[in-house]
Amino acid sequence: MKRICAAALLGMFAIGSGATASAAGLTEERVREIAAEVAAEVAAKVAEQVAREVAEEVAARIAEEYLEDNAGEDIELVFTPEFLADPEHIAAGKEIWMGQCTLCHGAKSYPGKAPKLKPKRYTPNFVYDRITNGFRKMPPWRDVYDEEERMDLVAWVLSRKFSP
Ligand code: HEC
Repeated sequence: MKRICAAALLGMFAIGSGATASAAGLTEERVREIAAEVAAEVAAKVAEQVAREVAEEVAARIAEEYLEDNAGEDIELVFTPEFLADPEHIAAGKEIWMGQCTLCHGAKSYPGKAPKLKPKRYTPNFVYDRITNGFRKMPPWRDVYDEEERMDLVAWVLSRKFSP
């Protein structure tokens, strides 16, 4: 909308520049008409641009949700209580967490960079999905850690020893 105001200002400027207008042999009325036409054209372009941006944003959100829903369907992993309680898996997950995830999460995080995790609210598949596919500013890790490593991370995050 700022741009519409700028167009209006430009129009006013055109009206004000009577010297140029008379030099060009135009009446003030004609200058007003031209200014109004230009302002209308600019407004139409701005409106079109805004409409396009809104449409793109809507399409992007729909795509994001679609991908997210379908990413969820890919996950058929079963996290047994035995797996989640296994000290070796927990320790392996902890090692990755300390080396990688604490950059954004946890005590050593840059303030405000990533939310504090709330493991009590998560299911194993949710954590696995976020780690695997990422979400907004959370990067995906599927190409960085193999399935077992990502499962180890889930075991660590959901373990009693985990404190972000
Ligand atoms: C580059 C910074 C960054 C790194 C590194 C990072 N995360 Fe994240 N993570 C985020 C951000 C930001 C979010 C919040 C995403 C959102 O919901 O918008 C997030 C969200 C999450 C969530 C979901 C939290 C929730 O309540 O929705 C989990 C689980 C998670 N991260 C685990 C990890 C693990 C495990 C690692 C290490 C492999 C890791 N993250 C590395 C930035 C990071």
